[in-house]
Amino acid sequence: MKYDISITKTDAPKARPVDESKLGFGRIFTDHMFIMDYSADKGWYNGRIVPFGPLPIHPASTVLHYGAEIFEGMKAYRAADGNIRLFRPMENIKRLNNSAERLCLPLLDEEGCLDILKTMVELEKDWVPHSEGTSLYIRPYMFGNDPHLGVHAVKEATFVVICSPVGAYYAEGINPVKIAIESSDVRAVRGGTGYAKCGGNYAASLRAGQKAEENGYTQVLWLDGVERKYIEEVGAMNVMFKIDGKIVTPALSGSILPGITRKSCIELLKAWGYTVEERAFSIDELFEACESGTLEEAWGTGTAAVVSPIGHLFYNGKEYTVSDNKIGEVTQKLYDNLTGIQWGKVEDTFGWCVDVCNG
Ligand code: PLP
Ligand code: COI
Repeated sequence: MKYDISITKTDAPKARPVDESKLGFGRIFTDHMFIMDYSADKGWYNGRIVPFGPLPIHPASTVLHYGAEIFEGMKAYRAADGNIRLFRPMENIKRLNNSAERLCLPLLDEEGCLDILKTMVELEKDWVPHSEGTSLYIRPYMFGNDPHLGVHAVKEATFVVICSPVGAYYAEGINPVKIAIESSDVRAVRGGTGYAKCGGNYAASLRAGQKAEENGYTQVLWLDGVERKYIEEVGAMNVMFKIDGKIVTPALSGSILPGITRKSCIELLKAWGYTVEERAFSIDELFEACESGTLEEAWGTGTAAVVSPIGHLFYNGKEYTVSDNKIGEVTQKLYDNLTGIQWGKVEDTFGWCVDVCNG
């Protein structure tokens, strides 16, 4: 099912950023946004692209009180062949629907959603930056919008897509980040919403993130919520370790986000002949590997963060240096190949990229 999309173009287009080295992440927004409403009676209706601006919201709206919100993060790339392309967009759309199911928000038709994303990206194609390492970050999100205070699955919702030209997520760029392992707060537990990409997971992570930043660390590495013993994921990335030649990454236990970059890295690593173990991986095992010298590399994977080397790990008063605080060989190879596929410089043998339009 395709959704009807009306387009009202802005009559006051903004100046686009000139210095793409200063884009940062998520601070600049394009000229337009997509909005679509849902009601239990009508289904999805009134799909529209309008000039970027504030959303009117009822003061009793469900999202403001009970946090019924889910989102996605994906990117449009300006490829070497002159086309603007998306990376595995159906994976994001399927995950958005999985998140919607968990929070009792309405599902979207998958093909219809892809059509919305392509229409937005084509309209904003001049905002897709040109420089190496940059892209147009796309943030689709949905929230419950019932105008009353009872706690129930919603009958009204809103789906929005906004776009932001971005550079590196971390100030460190592709240089190693410092990660603090959190031993007190937890992000999610099995049976909760960890596998869903919902705003509440991030709200629950802010206190530990702030503490880590105050102590000079970039992000938090979460442990499981029951035993605080097994490694889960980093604030905005999944995590992988190279130990004695093998790659180890926490299994998708229900409390971590099933990352699309994670999935893609696993597929690349297996294609290159690496053994990839997706399993429970304890903090004790990690520090044994640190101390015995078998921890060769550690990195995070995510749409915003891409492939990000981890140079330091802090836990309970002790700091460990990984890979001499340098980007490791496998981390670099993953970064080069993944971004190479996304930017059309490495052949896309997996068929991951979807062309949107000519740039
Ligand atoms: N884990 C968390 C908590 C995230 O916010 C993200 C970012 O989206 C990821 C993992 C990586 O997921 P993906 O590779 O799909 O962007
Ligand atoms: C992404 O990588 O797209 C994310 O959603 C991470 C984010 C919370 C900035």
